[in-house]
Amino acid sequence: MARTGRRAIIRGTGSSLPDKVLTNTDLERIVDTSDEWIRSRTGIRERHVATESEPMSRFATLAAEEALRASGVRASDLDLLICATVTPDVPIPATSCIIQDQLGARSAAAFDLSAGCSGFIYGLAVADRFLASGGAERVLLIGAEVLSKYVDWSDRTTCVLFGDGAGAVVLTVGDGPAGVLGTALHADGSMADYIYVPAGGTREPASERTVAERRHYIRMKGNETFKMAVRSMEETAREVLEREGLATTDIDLFIAHQANRRIIDAVGNRLGLREDQVYVNIDRVGNTSAASIPIALDEAARKGLLKSGDHLLCAAFGTGLTWGAALCRW
Ligand code: ACO
Repeated sequence: MARTGRRAIIRGTGSSLPDKVLTNTDLERIVDTSDEWIRSRTGIRERHVATESEPMSRFATLAAEEALRASGVRASDLDLLICATVTPDVPIPATSCIIQDQLGARSAAAFDLSAGCSGFIYGLAVADRFLASGGAERVLLIGAEVLSKYVDWSDRTTCVLFGDGAGAVVLTVGDGPAGVLGTALHADGSMADYIYVPAGGTREPASERTVAERRHYIRMKGNETFKMAVRSMEETAREVLEREGLATTDIDLFIAHQANRRIIDAVGNRLGLREDQVYVNIDRVGNTSAASIPIALDEAARKGLLKSGDHLLCAAFGTGLTWGAALCRW
């Protein structure tokens, strides 16, 4: 059933990418791959990567500052800061606290949210609930990753896919027609080993052996993940649309998690969307996990692709496995 009453509204967006660009040709010098293979199998031409001295919080803070400027909300007036990420600065404490300090958001509660590439959709659902219930008035939601430091640069099946960066949105409360119309969240932990980092946690703490065996890097079952990605994003996108009584023809812009161009195209086709309804930037940024949707959203907003009253549909899937969708009226 369609919702009424208080809901979250996106007031401003921002994003930040590392200056350093790694092209497919650069990768040809690192692993046994080719620009042709990467472009035809994934749609990626290049990705941005952090330098050794740049942690995730650097890009998160820059994206957040841009979103705050766009929204007109002051950092000191925020009451909640959520950072969706799987690549924190340090294991303890939450990087959201480091970002809170860098922004000077003294009144904001802060926590990290771990839902892989679905992190931004999960975060949007949480922010919406806080705002709708009166638990918060001004929320900063960031999706930020530095996956390049979790990638095994000797594994060609994963290292070509990922990129670094951050996207952010500032949300306040509205009770008009605009805002978050609905969200849907799902998870299935029986597929936890589709995308995972075996060591470095409490199950297998860091040791000389885990480092020597490269067990601190991402491992992935690419083919299995691909199939699940297409099916889950289509189903959950239909779920939020149906709940709001909208059809795919009502969608002005669809932003899918940018994991693989072929996945985005397959989901778009299954939903019956035209090419101009589907936003794609994977060619320039690669898979930036939780940062993927907010970076794309910021680009789309700044290009003027979203007008007042437009319907925006976002869908994501990621490690966990997790998946979900969000429907907004701009
Ligand atoms: N360069 C050249 N050849 C390669 C490369 C590469 N970088 N990577 C794999 N290959 C080879 C394989 O070894 C294989 O060779 P073989 O046939 O001799 O064994 C061949 O290419 C085909 O490999 P496949 O794995 O079948 O290739 P596929 O078309 O499935 O593409 C890919 C692989 C890109 C990983 C795809 O499966 C995919 O995108 N999966 C989804 C991954 C994903 O979205 N993960 C997101 C989660 S991230 C998160 O949550 C943090």
